[in-house]
Amino acid sequence: MTRFVVVTFGCQMNEHDSERMAEVLRDAGYERTDRPSAADIVIVNTCSVRDKAEQKLLSELGRLSKLKRTRPDLALVVAGCVAQQHGKRLLARVPALDLVVGPDHIAELPELLRQIELGGPPQAHTGFDLDEPRFLSARPGRAGAAPSAYVTVMKGCNERCSFCIVPHTRGPERYRPSREIVDEVARLVSAGTREITLLGQTVNSYVDPGAGQLGAASAEPASGWRHHPPSQARRDQSQFAELLRLIAREVPGLWRLRYASPHPRYLTAPLIVAHAELPVLARHVHLPVQSGSDRVLRRMIRRHSVAEYLERTDALRAAVADLSLSTDIIVGFPGETRADFQKTLRLVERVGFTGLFGFKYSPRPCTPALRLGDDVAEEEKSARLAELFGLVESLRQKHLGQCVGTTQLVLVEGRGRNGRYTGRTERNEIVHFDADEPLAGQIVPVTIVRAFKNSLDAELPGSPRRGQSTPRHALPVLPC
Ligand code: 5AD
Repeated sequence: MTRFVVVTFGCQMNEHDSERMAEVLRDAGYERTDRPSAADIVIVNTCSVRDKAEQKLLSELGRLSKLKRTRPDLALVVAGCVAQQHGKRLLARVPALDLVVGPDHIAELPELLRQIELGGPPQAHTGFDLDEPRFLSARPGRAGAAPSAYVTVMKGCNERCSFCIVPHTRGPERYRPSREIVDEVARLVSAGTREITLLGQTVNSYVDPGAGQLGAASAEPASGWRHHPPSQARRDQSQFAELLRLIAREVPGLWRLRYASPHPRYLTAPLIVAHAELPVLARHVHLPVQSGSDRVLRRMIRRHSVAEYLERTDALRAAVADLSLSTDIIVGFPGETRADFQKTLRLVERVGFTGLFGFKYSPRPCTPALRLGDDVAEEEKSARLAELFGLVESLRQKHLGQCVGTTQLVLVEGRGRNGRYTGRTERNEIVHFDADEPLAGQIVPVTIVRAFKNSLDAELPGSPRRGQSTPRHALPVLPC
């Protein structure tokens, strides 16, 4: 049987795409392996959001090209954002490549591979499915569904953040009918999935494309946003809050609902109310802010101010007790001064983010910020990033320390290599604990006993301390 491997770089969206590729290929009779050396087809699913990811791909392709010299039958495929960005040019640059496929061509993979197997020439397919957008559904595997799964609700991006290549590589926003989304969530939940993360580039700008159930767009005005005069502000038509309500109503068996990644512009009043009213929504939101300086935010074309970000996150916190927030920050954006960066540190402290992805600005092709140059020295970017990570580290330590002694509901993902169970709390803290019973996929209450650097040590109530052998009381596992 022909075997394939998918090597994934990048974000959750890419991981999700890789799983869809694997499903499409398995359906076509291919077998998955996890080692390129054992594969007949190697698919590298790529990310181009920062230059480093692209460089990583090029060195991976160098290694694979060498492998192909010893095994000429090996088929080499590049998928994802770099495929989309470079298209045919990638075929010219890496002669060992057989196929370049953009994110909207996953369904065609088996047919394209068949043509390669029959001796066809290398091909590049990078059009966007603008007329009839396709969204491939996740299918629970033979071994049942994973405790946690992603469901795509929209793709592409209509924002024009000046640093970001995504509108170029993923195209304009296209939305999936709400009926289809609810059906996929219901299918996964009935197969055993407990937690769903809704995915989209700006997931909360979601609008039901009509074939769904949400009805006419809610005409929620973009009130409270003063950063741009109303004539410039896009009237907010988003229906994300309604989508969340629909899922909560129609799939009552779902235990936890998350989403990634929202844009602050669409953290609307209805979405905040949904957080207050829907117990299924996790008490954690990852809300990228990118900078704490209004001057930098304007140059980034983020279309919101620091005050607006704070206004919305404060409202969200007032609506949901103990909600935790995490974010993305870019340091060393063109023109970012030390004073701008200090404002970012102040914002991080003020919000008290418990998680943060920090990046050094990386100039990307086809982005408006290219015209601004890249004037912050590399060492200065590194120094700012280190300072930012230091601050977040101390905020996280404080937060994790405050968890000690509390009881948290943990969705158990499985056992780690050391045999301990690992799971996540509602607020997305990672928890480790011991138990003998099969608990994967369950939600269990645990008592937090210690804070590690990035995670928590916990015990099941009534369980013996590690090393003791007294039998435990009945497990307080919540009903399914
Ligand atoms: N340089 C550095 N970081 C970037 N990101 C996106 N584009 C760039 C870039 N050109 C970061 C942003 C975004 C995350 C996914 O990647 O913080 O939220």
